[in-house]
Amino acid sequence: MIDYALAIVTGYLLGSIPFGLIATNAAGLGDVRKIGSGNIGATNVARTGRKDLVAITLVGDIGKGVAAVLIARWLWGNEAALFAGVAAFLGHIFPVWLGFKGGKGVATYVGILLALNWTIGLIFCAVWLLIAFAQRYSSLAALTAAATAPMFAFAFSGPELTWATGFLSIMLFITHRGNIKRLIAGTESRMGEKKTAG
Ligand code: G3P
Repeated sequence: MIDYALAIVTGYLLGSIPFGLIATNAAGLGDVRKIGSGNIGATNVARTGRKDLVAITLVGDIGKGVAAVLIARWLWGNEAALFAGVAAFLGHIFPVWLGFKGGKGVATYVGILLALNWTIGLIFCAVWLLIAFAQRYSSLAALTAAATAPMFAFAFSGPELTWATGFLSIMLFITHRGNIKRLIAGTESRMGEKKTAG
């Protein structure tokens, strides 16, 4: 029991590191939450026009998901790794350091999946890329990848990952509720465009 608690705390703390916010602040661009969609993720960091900061944010947000799972697996085993991954995702969305108002969780979801089951992680990335290139909506790409992840987990993994991806994908739809409204209204900005909506 203590192992699971430690895995959850470790995962949460790693997930709560806001790499997008740290990178944009360190670059002297100020608070990324004051531009574009107000999100701390790579898509919004891209609206600063700084590809290097996008790369740092992506590597950091994916990396913390990977690290949470690998550290927990190494120290406490496979089941604890699953809990640590989910906790990292929740840490990214609800970071204590930012008043529990964090990001939308896409990159961290990718990192967790790659570390838990790299096949499912790569399929998630492939679906994201397919939709992103076809439609140029980062949010739609993430939503489509999240919607299909539990099906691929069911097909290629076991019930644990199917339940975990089901939970993470529902959470991801909740964090993207503003994007969903804008997609339906036709006001969502495409990748490469600036945006002022929240
Ligand atoms: O990764 C978040 C993306 O799906 C949407 O980002 O900034 O357009 O709300 P944003």
